[in-house]
Amino acid sequence: AKILLVNGPNLNLLGRREPGHYGNDTLDKIVQDLLHSAAQSNIQLEHIQSNAEHILIEAIHNTDADMIIINPAAFTHTSVALRDAILGVAIPFIEVHLSNVHSREPFRHHSYFSDKAIGVICGLGAQGYQFALQAAVARLQTSNK
Ligand code: DQA
Repeated sequence: AKILLVNGPNLNLLGRREPGHYGNDTLDKIVQDLLHSAAQSNIQLEHIQSNAEHILIEAIHNTDADMIIINPAAFTHTSVALRDAILGVAIPFIEVHLSNVHSREPFRHHSYFSDKAIGVICGLGAQGYQFALQAAVARLQTSNK
């Protein structure tokens, strides 16, 4: 089975970006850890990070993944287009945020993804991605993919 990990704008800055909200791990470290966990479960993990909406949309259009784990970052709160892309390919997805968006500014409380996600994890930092991966793997294994 294959999982596509999608990270949105500014997440390439992890490690030096507002560590109080986002922790000290770099995106590279987070992805390396996830690749390691995925390999242990015999799952193929592909990763894309982009600051450009159309690159993320095209990656979603072109994937043959069975499941998506997505942190849409700021596009969470703005992007009908990214929502439509993920609904368009009809691949089930889990939404992840490093920070607890509900304890932050009101404009971060609404997500264009949450009502369609299998589940949403926020506020647990980099660990949230590991939990999302565990949940995705469990689902894929029960659906025998
Ligand atoms: C974020 C939360 C968003 O509100 C913010 O725009 C981000 C990161 C998170 O992981 O906590 O860029 O998705």
